[in-house]
Amino acid sequence: MELQFWPDLVSVLKKMNSWMVLVVLVILFLIIDLVRKRRPRNFPPGPQLFPLVGTVVDFKQPLHLALQKLTGQYGNIFSVQFGSLTFVVVSGYQMVREALVHQAETFADRPNIPLLQEIFRGFGLISSNGHIWRQQRKFASATLKSLAVNFEEKVQEESRYLVETIEEEKGQPFDPHYKINSAVSNIICSITFGNRFDYHDNRFQELLHSLAETLLLIGSFWGQLYNAFPLIMRWFPGPFRKIFRHWEKLQYFVKEVIAKHKEDLDQSEAGDYIDCYLKEIEKFKGDTSSYFHEENLLCCTLDLFLTGTETTATAIRWALLYMAAYPHIQEKVQQEIDAVVGQCRQPSMADKEKMPYTSAVLSEVLRVGNVVPLGVPRMATSDTTLAGFHLPKGTTLMTSLTSVMFDKNVWETPDTFNPEHFLENGLYRRREAFLPFSAGKRACPGEQLARTELFIFFVALLQKFTFQAPAALSFAFTLSLTRCPKPFQLCAVPRH
Ligand code: HEM
Repeated sequence: MELQFWPDLVSVLKKMNSWMVLVVLVILFLIIDLVRKRRPRNFPPGPQLFPLVGTVVDFKQPLHLALQKLTGQYGNIFSVQFGSLTFVVVSGYQMVREALVHQAETFADRPNIPLLQEIFRGFGLISSNGHIWRQQRKFASATLKSLAVNFEEKVQEESRYLVETIEEEKGQPFDPHYKINSAVSNIICSITFGNRFDYHDNRFQELLHSLAETLLLIGSFWGQLYNAFPLIMRWFPGPFRKIFRHWEKLQYFVKEVIAKHKEDLDQSEAGDYIDCYLKEIEKFKGDTSSYFHEENLLCCTLDLFLTGTETTATAIRWALLYMAAYPHIQEKVQQEIDAVVGQCRQPSMADKEKMPYTSAVLSEVLRVGNVVPLGVPRMATSDTTLAGFHLPKGTTLMTSLTSVMFDKNVWETPDTFNPEHFLENGLYRRREAFLPFSAGKRACPGEQLARTELFIFFVALLQKFTFQAPAALSFAFTLSLTRCPKPFQLCAVPRH
């Protein structure tokens, strides 16, 4: 029989009016999209997929909790799709460990997240891959380690400024957000730029606001919409446009700092991260396989500024909130501070060993504070098998750190703030399933710095003040890349 398909189709189309053609085309498009979205064979199962949107999750809940709910239905490994992005979500300590630690090399890459791609262009630390990432990560880890000798001193110095600025509140209610962010950010500024800023410096405050809003917008509904439909959203106005404006401002600031460092660079002495990096650029001049250049320096510096400020500052804000909410726990911490550090000197990291209760409280804050609830997505560098499912090269993995921190098989009272999780016979108890900094090849390189800041800032504050809630406290939060407490007020009542 002769093939009549095209002539027949053309004659059918001629009989239709333009609206009917449009409807048919839309239906065809939706069917093709649905077919394209079908899960490959032996891919982790998941909720029903719809054309265009993919998975419909419960948007009334924050994403990490909506995904946690799906674990009950699909188990510790399932897949979801948001627009054009497909994620395999892994949950529970054992499964997360299997992916991040046992298959560390396989899940060492980051996926192409459109917003991050647009601002970092494949450079920097957090969203780069392959050779670029390996080279930059090795350099960043070694440099942070070499500068670590001064970490403690810098944090102690900054804690004096923080205590002073909180004293100015004279025990009246205040929102500690930007005072804490300024102190934490000053540490990363000292390490990368070589100097700190006054808390009243308008430009510094403007940068911190830009940084906080950028993170908020990246994690917001608009940010997710942009990531799901980048080709369409690129042409639309919306609040996410602010991300690019803020980023320009942050870049402009860091470029000025780099230019100043270039003018003053002393080849024999490297005082901060930018100095060390500029020397590396000099060393690799002419090497075409090197990615040590100024654009990468800009992205790495902004990465450290971004990752080093919000995470740690958020953890300290959670810590103060929990202390105000649990006065009997705050009192026990203060008793330990008085016994070990006293009132006449500053706390140091050497005190930590002798302060198991305070250490347990801070670990519990990191657990329930759940600062990075979904980790940072990873991507499979080759075909692999996880829990018997086939994950092709390029599959994006979302590791639910929430599920690890609240794993009912691990924690005695997962949903309660309970420092006893980290205590045994009066001593600090290490817990394997405590992964606030994630694990594997891309685990947080700032862990040591973050732990130093958390301990010294927290102890210095509780040494001088008792934190009280002027009104009923809420643990409500906003989810961006981090999980931040909603603005709250505290009274810092001087202790002596
Ligand atoms: C309480 C504080 C902090 C928490 C909870 C935290 C947590 C995390 C987590 C969960 C990741 C994702 C790791 C992965 O993909 O497996 C990460 C990555 C990262 N963190 Fe942190 N972090 C903290 C503080 C810091 C600080 C102070 C710095 C700066 C020195 C920093 C720098 C980074 C960088 C550069 C990455 C990307 C690493 C890469 O992709 O290779 N973080 N962090």
